Amino acid sequence: MKFFLDTANLDELKRGAAWGIVDGVTTNPTLIAREGNPIEDQVRLICGIVDGDISAEVVSTEAPAMVKEGLKLAAIHKNIVVKCPLTRDGIEATAELSRRGIRVNVTLCFSAAQALLAAKAGAYIISPFVGRLDDIGSVGMDLVRDIVKIYGNYGYKTQVLAASLRSPLHVVEAALAGAQIATMPFKVMDMLFNHPLTDKGLEQFLKDWGKAFQAPAAVR
Ligand code: E4P
Repeated sequence: MKFFLDTANLDELKRGAAWGIVDGVTTNPTLIAREGNPIEDQVRLICGIVDGDISAEVVSTEAPAMVKEGLKLAAIHKNIVVKCPLTRDGIEATAELSRRGIRVNVTLCFSAAQALLAAKAGAYIISPFVGRLDDIGSVGMDLVRDIVKIYGNYGYKTQVLAASLRSPLHVVEAALAGAQIATMPFKVMDMLFNHPLTDKGLEQFLKDWGKAFQAPAAVR
């Protein structure tokens, strides 16, 4: 499973990259706007930190403009994956960009029917939003499971990226469901490390080691 960081914040990306487990980055207009830099500049900086797929989203709403914007974003760096929303125009732009060899991440997917459209348009990635479905009382992870099953039935190459993940449990469930990628905020990736028995066990190991091999200064 690939782990992506869902952030445009450079400090978070540097900290995550130092762990050696970050395979890529997803951004969206909200995350880019939060950093206050033009998208081209911010995305270029991100590409210098993480060597993997970096999703950059178009903000145009009509297919021809999305294609134009997508081509511009893709020209920034070889690792850029253009993100298009799951609208009629977004799917049209996805089909056109894919025909031109540009990799597209289709975002804002909330149903299996929508995921089928993305696969048929040749999307490189589909992004079902788990947490936002949970927020409205649907089981978001069921959508990930359905998409993985449907794509498997037909051999679609589109990768399933579990997005809008809010907890370590979401990450584990996405892995069990067979999603190829999980994107998560830095906070969630950081939480994946935690287990009280790890802390307790390490404390005991170091204590035992100290008792056996570090004689008190007075005795030396
Ligand atoms: C994914 O590409 C999106 O940027 C992201 O996962 C959305 O997450 P949110 O619902 O927590 O904003």
